[in-house]
Amino acid sequence: SPADQLVLVDRQGPVTVLTLNRPKALNALSSPLFVQLNNELDKAAQDDQVKCIVLTGGEKVFAAGADIKEMKDKNFAEVYRSNFLGSWARVTSFRKPIVGAVSGYALGGGCELAMMCDILLASPTAIFGQPEITLGIIPGAGGTQRLTKIVGKPIAMDMVLTGRKIDAKEAERMGLVSRVVWEEGKSVVQEAVALAKKIGGFGAVAVQAGKEAVDAANELPLSEGLRLERRLFQQLFATADQKEGMAAFAEKRKPAFKDE
Ligand code: CAA
Repeated sequence: SPADQLVLVDRQGPVTVLTLNRPKALNALSSPLFVQLNNELDKAAQDDQVKCIVLTGGEKVFAAGADIKEMKDKNFAEVYRSNFLGSWARVTSFRKPIVGAVSGYALGGGCELAMMCDILLASPTAIFGQPEITLGIIPGAGGTQRLTKIVGKPIAMDMVLTGRKIDAKEAERMGLVSRVVWEEGKSVVQEAVALAKKIGGFGAVAVQAGKEAVDAANELPLSEGLRLERRLFQQLFATADQKEGMAAFAEKRKPAFKDE
């Protein structure tokens, strides 16, 4: 039934919009929710017509973190043996771009999920934070690693060790989000969909290569990253889309990419 639908799916042309749907629990990220989210990502990965994902919690809240009620009675052996939160990594192995749209709270696991997105849009109401320390734990899905890579050690330590919340203005200033949709009356979700559709109009091979290359910057030493970038760049000359894109420029017309 729709009440069991913890992730709503809305196809808009080349874009699949995935909306976290546990409004009464501020979209707390339960294990069943992640099973559904991963399942939808698997489907989107296999569907060539899907070029880009928008991941959002809607206009009110992104996600207030992992589900505390689900976690509170778990013990070490249980979480260790089941590799608790390990399945969240599916989001980061997804090869098409994910545009995140954050409105309201993105706390704990919600902030971590937002940081897994490739491009992150926020509304002026967005509030980010890693409040795990207030629960006697630390972030467990990238809140110490991805956050530090994005904002640097001083701010990451401040957020992780104090649980201090960050508003949209501060998030924009520290580079935690790609941009804030400040315009009055503009929906962050609609902006994200428009951005995703734009990406969806480009050649899928080049888009995937761009994502792979930028992601490599976090993993590789500079010389290896530059080598990977150059190799991917050179390989794109084997695609029809490179011929089409450059021919269209020379002929002053719009390119028609074929994703090959
Ligand atoms: N897990 C489970 N339920 C949650 C939740 C969470 N993370 N966050 C909110 N809820 C539930 C509340 O329990 C409440 O349910 P009931 O109506 O059944 O009591 C409902 O959502 C509404 O929440 P509030 O009444 O608390 O709403 P508020 O507006 O007064 O406060 C808030 C909002 C400040 C976000 C507050 O809900 C809050 O502090 N939530 C917890 C935030 C948090 O600590 N997140 C980190 C979780 S740990 C984690 O994420 C680990 C990791 O690294 C992956």
